[in-house]
Amino acid sequence: MVPAVHGGAGAGPDGDRRGPAVENRRVHRRALLCGLAAAALTACGGSAPRKTGGVGTARPGDKIAAAADVPVGGGVLVDLPGDAQLLLVQPAEGQIKAFNPSCPHVGSLVNPPARGVITCPLHGSTFDAATGVVEKGPSPRGLAEVAVTRSGGDVLLA
Ligand code: FES
Repeated sequence: MVPAVHGGAGAGPDGDRRGPAVENRRVHRRALLCGLAAAALTACGGSAPRKTGGVGTARPGDKIAAAADVPVGGGVLVDLPGDAQLLLVQPAEGQIKAFNPSCPHVGSLVNPPARGVITCPLHGSTFDAATGVVEKGPSPRGLAEVAVTRSGGDVLLA
């Protein structure tokens, strides 16, 4: 049996034998692309903190939204202190629920529901808007519900 050979003397990082000049051009091209990507992130507000799903630094009893801001039959992502977001839904009049919008697959934030379905934009998992139960993977499970309560016209963290 012949052992597999990767690289070797005179070979580039991919096993080619075009020599160091080709290898150096590849390194320079890669460095240039990385530099452009970093510049694009900065230009696009790359310094803004990334939101995570959850309650952040909010405490039980904190107001997290006005009930009137949660559309019946839909939902809305709300910002919480600590760069966090929660997904509030109101599948039927007066039934407000909250879900952690972090997709259980690899953590992308899901979109608010449309026509009764919550969709993760990263790989397309879908969840029932009323229960958070996963309808289509790759997510291995549903969205985690977060307890909330109503006080007059306010939605509070329970
Ligand atoms: S992160 Fe949501 S489906 Fe992959």
